[in-house]
Amino acid sequence: MPERPAFPDGFLWGASTAAHQVEGGNVGSDWWQREHGHLAGAAVEEPSGDAADSYHRYPEDMRLLADAGLTAYRFSIEWARIEPERGFVSRAQLDHYRRMVDTARDLGLEPMVTLHHFTNPAWFARADAWHASSSVDAFARYVEAALPVLDDVDLVCTINEPNMVSVLSDPEVGFPHAGLPPGIPRVTDHLVAAHARAVELVRAAGCRAGWSVATQAYQPEPGAEEVARAYGWSREDVFLEAAAGDDWVGVQAYTRTRITPEGPIPPAEGTERTLTGWEYYPPAVGDGIRNAWERAGVPVFVTENGIATGDDARRIAYSTGALEAVLECLADGVDVRGYLHWSALDNYEWGSFRPTFGLIGWDPLSFERLPKPSLAWLGDVARANALPG
Ligand code: BGC
Repeated sequence: MPERPAFPDGFLWGASTAAHQVEGGNVGSDWWQREHGHLAGAAVEEPSGDAADSYHRYPEDMRLLADAGLTAYRFSIEWARIEPERGFVSRAQLDHYRRMVDTARDLGLEPMVTLHHFTNPAWFARADAWHASSSVDAFARYVEAALPVLDDVDLVCTINEPNMVSVLSDPEVGFPHAGLPPGIPRVTDHLVAAHARAVELVRAAGCRAGWSVATQAYQPEPGAEEVARAYGWSREDVFLEAAAGDDWVGVQAYTRTRITPEGPIPPAEGTERTLTGWEYYPPAVGDGIRNAWERAGVPVFVTENGIATGDDARRIAYSTGALEAVLECLADGVDVRGYLHWSALDNYEWGSFRPTFGLIGWDPLSFERLPKPSLAWLGDVARANALPG
């Protein structure tokens, strides 16, 4: 008998990835074009290139997760591959993603499919991306075209971290690893509208729809409650409230942001930081879950949570702390349905391969997969449906 409480029956245990970060060769996307200077954007340290070549190696990646004991895999399908030119839908790419869904199912993994994870087709970016009011129709057409991939899929995430998409819609903003500029209201409105259209479409196809929000655990210092509330609205809460009425909401938590009456402050000197520079703060996921539950009022999945580190023992310690926070939320009656770790693989962290988030590493020349002890550890937690006692 485990000493710590068990997670609820049917709790989903998985790991997540995003197409551009692991597939490689995503040449039709705005990110690839940015990485090579063909589209405006903040400079990147290195391009994504072949990434982890998961476009070809996904069966092996999924098998590693399933063999370890996990029960779910969250991955994204790539709009830029499915619709590489406006109005041209690649049936071969739809088949590719359909094979991914089938492979997951064959291996006993519940596929959670994300329709949009940061990247857009280059043609969409050139047409002003999410700033344009036509973006809502363009996205809805893509979702409709992608429906054959979703046949029999239960969980669909429409848009990953719309709050980050809103922030990243200023081309001069790189992937922010410290502090977030406010969301852009027009972009936010379009994302909320696009989400609503996508929810309608995928629900009609029999899926349960939600979206995943980056939750930053905005913690007010004494006297900063109002400032923190205002700070969090355009960056997070507007997106969580837009999830009310969905089938579920996704929480993606990594660290916290402390807010003083003057605004956000960096971690105190001497605080442990991860490879992204973020404060090592495992309970952040608890803050995110509670805020999502309060604002959206629908079942919560942790769709991303993890740590960029070269020290895998720290990954296990971080995940233990995070899962303890999930257990506390469950004990308080919050309806948390699953935990999907970020990430299955070391991947392209939006500008660099340096921050390693993966349960699985890989050789940069041969792409040979190198599972880390944390994969076996999370698989054991999944099989026991409980943390080790
Ligand atoms: C994103 C991932 C990213 C991770 C770590 C989230 O913002 O959805 O694509 O790699 O956090 O930075």
